[in-house]
Formats: sequence, C-alpha cells, structure tokens
Amino acid sequence: MSYQNILVEEENQIATVTINRPKKLNALNKATIQELHEAFSDLNDDSEIKVIILTGSGEKAFVAGADISEFANFSESEGGQLAAKGQKLLFDFIENMSTPVIAAVNGFALGGGLELAMACHFRVASSNARMGLPEVSLGVIPGYGGTQRLPQLVGKGRAMEMIMTAGMIDAEKATQYGLVNHVVELEDLLSYCEKIAGRISNNSLVAIKHAIKAVNAGFKHDSNGYAVEINSFGACFGTDDFIEGTTAFLNKRKAEFPGE
Ligand code: COA
Repeated sequence: MSYQNILVEEENQIATVTINRPKKLNALNKATIQELHEAFSDLNDDSEIKVIILTGSGEKAFVAGADISEFANFSESEGGQLAAKGQKLLFDFIENMSTPVIAAVNGFALGGGLELAMACHFRVASSNARMGLPEVSLGVIPGYGGTQRLPQLVGKGRAMEMIMTAGMIDAEKATQYGLVNHVVELEDLLSYCEKIAGRISNNSLVAIKHAIKAVNAGFKHDSNGYAVEINSFGACFGTDDFIEGTTAFLNKRKAEFPGE
C-alpha cells in the first residue's frame, strides 16, 4: 500500500511507521490520521509483524500537534466530531491493538503529538525531545485523549500543571515523570527501540495480546480490570503458545512460539 504522509518499513518482523510531513513538523492532518489508521489496521492483522515502532521524520519533531490550519474555523459540532473521529480512528485504536506499539519520540511531541505517543503502549525519547499539551494556549483543550492519558501516566497534579501552563518538559523530566521509559541520543533512538522490540518478539504474542487487554481494562470505567485479567489468564491456557512455553521451560530449552 502506498501512502502520501507516512512511510511503513518492515524488517525482522518489526514494522517502523514514520509520519512524514517534516516541513509541517509532522502535524497530524485528516489525511495523515486516516493513513495511520489504515497502516496500523493492516499491521495489526499481519501475523508476520510482532512489534511496531512509531516515529516522526526529520530530527526536529515526532509530531508538533494536530494540524491547526485544518480546524481553526471549525464550529462547536465540527470540533466535537474532530475529537470523536480522531479518538476512534487512531488514538483508541492504537491503545487497544494486540500488536505492541512503541513510540520513538524523536523531538517535539506537542498536543496531538504527545497524545499519539501516549496512546502507544510505551515510549522511548531522544534527548532533544520536548513534550507538552499546549492546547489551552490556543483556546481549546486536548481532544485526543490527553486529559485522560496524561494523568494516568504522570499523576493528576503534574498533568494539571502541564495542561494549565501549556508548557513543555524535556526528555529528562519526562522520564522522572514516568511519561517516557528511557532517554537515548537521537542517533541511537531507533536501534534502541528495535532492541526492545526484539526482546518482546521472543515472547508469546498471544499472551502479550491478553496482557495489553487486561492492563487497559483497569483504566476503563466500564470494565473490571481484575475480571478481565482472570478471563485473559484462563484464555491463555487454551493456546498453543502456552503449551510451547511451559513445555520448553520444563524441557530446559528456548520456546519457539507458534503465535497461536
Ligand atoms: N499545525 C500546523 N502546522 C504546524 C504545526 C501544527 N500543530 N506545528 C508546526 N507547524 C508548521 C508551522 O506552521 C510551520 O509551517 P510554515 O513553514 O509553512 O510556516 C512549520 O510547521 C515549521 O514550524 P515553525 O513554527 O516555523 O518551527 P519552530 O521551530 O519555530 O517552532 C514549534 C516549533 C513546535 C514550537 C512550533 O511549530 C509550534 O508551537 N507549533 C504548534 C504546537 C501546538 O500548539 N500544537 C498543538 C496543536 S493542538
């Protein structure tokens, strides 16, 4: 599939999706959101792909936000639809994917850009990265899940301060806050993420799929995370990966998971 705004590369069963609008600091316009939805949807259905890395092109930005030029004239109802559609197509979609998604934050991650990174399963940042939710400086609030995911990751008080001040934090502070897991030099960012992806790939992706579902359930108000964990735990016992994982352990050999 060919795209105008993103690049999709695959190597060693790891896919790298790069948002490719460097002149606009990879700002998320409607077309880019649609293309990302299609790419993630295809990759999630592709049993050959074990982990996905999401990054931005260039050395300056992961994503500098939603494309302000596209919504500056919107009405109230258009604004509401923009948030609802974006959340469904991209942000909630990524969070609930069964294939793990790592955000490689390679520069500015602002507004919708930070919201996109937060929708990924976890984040690694380059040392030049700067993160924030500047929406209130534009007279609007984060609309792609930022008011919910930022407090989940950094705590309510820190999230309130970041949202109210519209300020940016650097990569070091983002690790202290728990917003990103690791900080590395920009030139090492992708190889570092690929190393983590390689470690993930050795494990049962069926079990990982269940783990993602159970972890996410704890953050949803309409589900009981403990109950989902019990169901998912039970479901793992019916998989070939479980038979392989336990048999390999008992026979003192490395597991070769069939992924089923
Ligand atoms: N939407 C649309 N265009 C954007 C954008 C966004 N969120 N962020 C950057 N751009 C565009 C700029 O308009 C500029 O385009 P131009 O060259 O056609 O004028 C280009 O990207 C480069 O950005 P510029 O502002 O010149 O770079 P800078 O290094 O001076 O500043 C930022 C970098 C990130 C601080 C600045 O671009 C910025 O504040 N962006 C908006 C961040 C934001 O508020 N995001 C939340 C949106 S809800």
